[in-house]
Amino acid sequence: MTDTITATLNASSKGSRMKVRKAVLPAAGLGTRFLPATKAQPKEMLTVVDKPQIQYVAEECVASGIEHIIIVTGKGKNSIEDHFDSAPALERFLEEKGRHDQAELVRKISNMLQVSYTRQKEPLGLGHAVLVARDLVGDEPFAVLLGDVLIPGKNPATKQLIDVYESIGVGAIAVEQVPKDKTHLYGIVDAVPAPQPPFGERLLRIRDLVEKPKPANAPSNLAITGRYVLPSAIFDCLERTKPGAGNEIQLTDALRILAKEQGLFAYIYEGISYDAGDKLGFLKATVEIALQNPEFGAAFREYLKTLKL
Ligand code: UTP
Repeated sequence: MTDTITATLNASSKGSRMKVRKAVLPAAGLGTRFLPATKAQPKEMLTVVDKPQIQYVAEECVASGIEHIIIVTGKGKNSIEDHFDSAPALERFLEEKGRHDQAELVRKISNMLQVSYTRQKEPLGLGHAVLVARDLVGDEPFAVLLGDVLIPGKNPATKQLIDVYESIGVGAIAVEQVPKDKTHLYGIVDAVPAPQPPFGERLLRIRDLVEKPKPANAPSNLAITGRYVLPSAIFDCLERTKPGAGNEIQLTDALRILAKEQGLFAYIYEGISYDAGDKLGFLKATVEIALQNPEFGAAFREYLKTLKL
């Protein structure tokens, strides 16, 4: 570990860290993997069972203690703003018909937390999307949740990362084990165990990050999952990041700088993620979440058993 990182970790452990109150939800990508569904509607608004994907992500924020989300939108993404806005006419209609539960369901979406929007004029990459949220985040640590990655469950992945940040004072990113022959599909971390209570073996210190390495060159099988808690120093790292793969400003490249200059942890979070921006991932998320539904999960399970697979 370099002296700079040691100094940063020491300063952090002396209690200079701040509470994580804000989250950035990048949702300005074109969603080309999900064409034609995404030709005229945002992939983040595609419905998994009965809610658009981005509502699951916003609910993860609420469950993690986040107070304010900043959604990075772009061309053709207005329905995201409409979804989180209040809908007085619809609420009135439902109340007048005595459908109070539904009215409450609609009202809750606009009241669950503070939502701001900023626009990425062109989809210049995930790193660029995070950078355009800089003014709204300000000089405080924040979470990043990809708008199309779903991690259902009672122990929100973002909360797990916030616990690491608020305990150690250094950025943390969620990772999960993937099959060794699939590393070329993910961002992979080069990390060494850094166990400490209460996080135990789940905590690792990142030495480097590699975008989609061939299995033979992969430093580990721990893939970056789409949840991050970062210090505001990431913005300076992003400013210094040149366009990389696909001519896009990659968040992974800025994280490499952050890891080297300030330190960064990987956390093997508890839970399962679904890349719902991918057709197969979307189907898996739909089946898993439908099976957990209290109203019709059991009936759906019975139906699945009747399928001749
Ligand atoms: P993805 O790579 O999954 O999004 O980015 P994409 O570019 O829309 O996907 P495909 O490959 O064309 O299907 C992960 C998240 O980052 C956002 C996306 O909206 C998604 O939620 N993103 C990506 C941006 O906000 N801006 C970008 O320039 C790129």
